[in-house]
Amino acid sequence: MKKLSIPYVNLSKQWKVERATLLKIIDKVIETQDWVGGTEIKKFEKNILKYTNSKYAVALNSGTDALTLGLALIGVRKDDEVITTPNSFIASVASIVHLGAKPIFVDVKKDQNIDPSLIASKITKKTKAIMPVHLTGRVSDMDKIIEIAKKYSIPIIEDAAQAIGAKYKNFYAGSFGKVGCFSAHPLKNLNAIGDSGYLVTNDKKIYENAKLLRNHGLVDRNIVKRFGYVSRMDTIQAAILNYRLKKVDKVIKQRRKNFKIYSENLNKKYVYFPLEQSYEFNTYHTFVIQTKNRNKLKQHLMKNGVGTAIHYPTPIHLQNSSKRFNYKKGDFPNVEKQASQILTLPINENLKINDIIKISNLVNSFFK
Ligand SMILES: Cc1ncc(COP(=O)(O)O)c(C=O)c1O
Repeated sequence: MKKLSIPYVNLSKQWKVERATLLKIIDKVIETQDWVGGTEIKKFEKNILKYTNSKYAVALNSGTDALTLGLALIGVRKDDEVITTPNSFIASVASIVHLGAKPIFVDVKKDQNIDPSLIASKITKKTKAIMPVHLTGRVSDMDKIIEIAKKYSIPIIEDAAQAIGAKYKNFYAGSFGKVGCFSAHPLKNLNAIGDSGYLVTNDKKIYENAKLLRNHGLVDRNIVKRFGYVSRMDTIQAAILNYRLKKVDKVIKQRRKNFKIYSENLNKKYVYFPLEQSYEFNTYHTFVIQTKNRNKLKQHLMKNGVGTAIHYPTPIHLQNSSKRFNYKKGDFPNVEKQASQILTLPINENLKINDIIKISNLVNSFFK
């Protein structure tokens, strides 16, 4: 396949810039033989709780495990229900299903995040958690979600996998619920060079149990308090994340600048994208436009050397894996409409201003 002149992501550029430093960091971890656990993990947890303004942080091997452990630790068990949106990466729902619980879906607003006005009617005696997903690096409408959660005494678990550094009314993503769950997958704004994730919480018990569960339930080498898993963050990844965390605000700043350039250059007559509300601080993990001619536009951009993506073409309630829950087409009109209209344009921090102007012009000229 022909190399794209503007790829959707540009991890090779990141590697080129950081190569010398990362190799030193990796070398140091290997040299110290601190390969599982150790000071880099502790350092990462300290850094991340400071960054998200939380009391506790637990470094894990993935965002998926952060969600699974988080749900388990707020008490989600077999046959319970968890309210969430079908517009997410599959892992949000897989984590619910693996605990034997049932995802209860709610439609989204135009900004792709859960519509809080639809939550209350879905609450039953079995509801054990509400899981808003802060898609694209935009925090869900938390005031309303917290109000409902308080009224019905249901804990919130935030899927903040895409939202490190994002704020809502000056509070950080991950700091609203009982547990905030993050991914540090290579495509995230704070990215490892493999799988990684973490959770934050203000609840000491959840913190202590998450630490136990990620490491076989071991209190020490020979004492097992409860059966656990192997969900530890790799030490090399923690060391890399400690280095990259220092740069994440710069990454976010650049992505926000890129959004501004798009916003000034894309013709809003042809495409829709939610603008930032005064109380939001969005980090643009992705930049998603909505348009009627999505597939043809995608092809047009590809022909002109621009890579794009679709997050996500099949809503989770319509995936084969969800058949057992008996949802059907038409159940969530906004999510379904968006699935056919959304297109994710490149917004990574390595783009040049001219790249964004070029993409915007290509989109505008396609519609003209
Ligand atoms: C919204 C959302 N939830 C959960 C996850 C799962 O994270 P991970 O890939 O680190 O397991 C992701 C990451 O891809 C995500 O985007």
